Amino acid sequence: MNANLMDKIIALSKRRGFIYPGSEIYGGLANTYDYGPAGAELLRNIRNLWWDNFVHKREDVVGIDASIISHQEIWKASGHTAGFADALVDCKNCKLRMRADHLIENNPSFAKATEGKEEKVEGKSLEELEKIIKNNKDIVCPNCGKHDWSSVRKFNLLFPVNLGIVEGDQSLAYLRGETAQGMFVNFKNVVDSTRVKLPFGIAQLGKSFRNEITPGNSVFRTLEFEQGEIEYFFDPEESNWEKLFENWKNSMWDFVTKTLGVNKNNLRWREHGNEEKSFYSKKTEDLEYKFPFGFKELWGIAYRTDYDLKQHMKFSNKDLSIVDPQTGKKIMPHVIEPAVGINRMLLMVLSDSYVEEKERIVLKLNPKLAPYKIAIFPLLANKPELVEKAKKIFKDLSSNFVTVYDGRGNIGKRYFAQDEIGTPFCITVDFDSLKDNTVTVRDRDTMKQERIKISELFTCLTNKLS
Ligand code: GAP
Repeated sequence: MNANLMDKIIALSKRRGFIYPGSEIYGGLANTYDYGPAGAELLRNIRNLWWDNFVHKREDVVGIDASIISHQEIWKASGHTAGFADALVDCKNCKLRMRADHLIENNPSFAKATEGKEEKVEGKSLEELEKIIKNNKDIVCPNCGKHDWSSVRKFNLLFPVNLGIVEGDQSLAYLRGETAQGMFVNFKNVVDSTRVKLPFGIAQLGKSFRNEITPGNSVFRTLEFEQGEIEYFFDPEESNWEKLFENWKNSMWDFVTKTLGVNKNNLRWREHGNEEKSFYSKKTEDLEYKFPFGFKELWGIAYRTDYDLKQHMKFSNKDLSIVDPQTGKKIMPHVIEPAVGINRMLLMVLSDSYVEEKERIVLKLNPKLAPYKIAIFPLLANKPELVEKAKKIFKDLSSNFVTVYDGRGNIGKRYFAQDEIGTPFCITVDFDSLKDNTVTVRDRDTMKQERIKISELFTCLTNKLS
């Protein structure tokens, strides 16, 4: 664990407006975060690239946007009300509540004993977890240092909500625990209202909610987070699931390495063992990224068979099978599901692009991801001619590029701040600009400056940023 690097990323995120602790002025609310101006732009860029790549650029995928508040029956049918739970344990001395698997995994002696092995605690039964904790006296509370644990118990992760307009039991609904169910419950609507033909995918980007207890690590695991999920439906008699699974793995890998530009040496695939895998999944793999706190799941892919559609058929009494228009054959489609967290992707790109150089910190973000593509400065903020010219350039460029204007402090400080935000190019308007209509354009990575005519800025920056 590179705690130092994680602390530095958290500090930079706060300092430069990427991520703030949630409800901070009221003392904070655990496991919630707010995104500042730079963070909101970065999230938006990741989202848009995901949607563009997996919806707009594919003729076999359509997108939907389903409701967050959803019927209690959806979550009964999906198995979430019964089985979507974490095993938690309480420190009897100081009352700290923790996930039992995290408590064990983070214990130095367990980490040492399992070093180099693919040992996972997730998925072990309550009894097994309790035995490990009871038998290892050095599994002590990270808060008070005592080994005085309660029994291990299950806590459901779904957030219930009570709807005001309905009486009694019927008022219970849930904030969705995954976006996936929106695709299953709208499967028939999409088939009936569009021209999709098997195999095809339904995609969705949006918030999900889980009442999780987490060990920190910024936005890696939060109560409220954004998912990008695709349910790819196919006829198991016509399509080979193993081949589809491999194709989707390749698309996920290419998106992370090519579109987002993440270093492939920090990525690996890990297949879930039987204990960890959901009971309905025939195969699950995680694309893991090497975060400062170790290799962790970024993006999962699962072959969920026809479990979900069949469950919704059973609970809703609606026929969700489809009929092949050519042969008249009734088909119960199976599904492969790539599911990623957008916030986790954001933390990944921050970690992957964080570079310390001799006299500066720089986020070497792929320009497609950079919150601002261009920053514009007047050399001196108290010279109205410089300010006016710089603002005019801002106005002209901002219709084509996300651009930021900065007139504070000295020029060195402004470069320093933009390097930390990851802005690829900084433009400075100086006294020469007033005479010859040129400006300096500084490259974030090389720090080289060149003189460019204002009339050629648009073409020059378009070429540099493409
Ligand atoms: N429909 C399948 C599903 O939801 P998951 O592995 O629970 O699978 C998919 O979630 C992805 O969502 C994860 O790989 C992760 O990137 C993200 N994710 C899950 N829980 C999260 C949380 N509490 N905070 C942030 N991201 C989370």
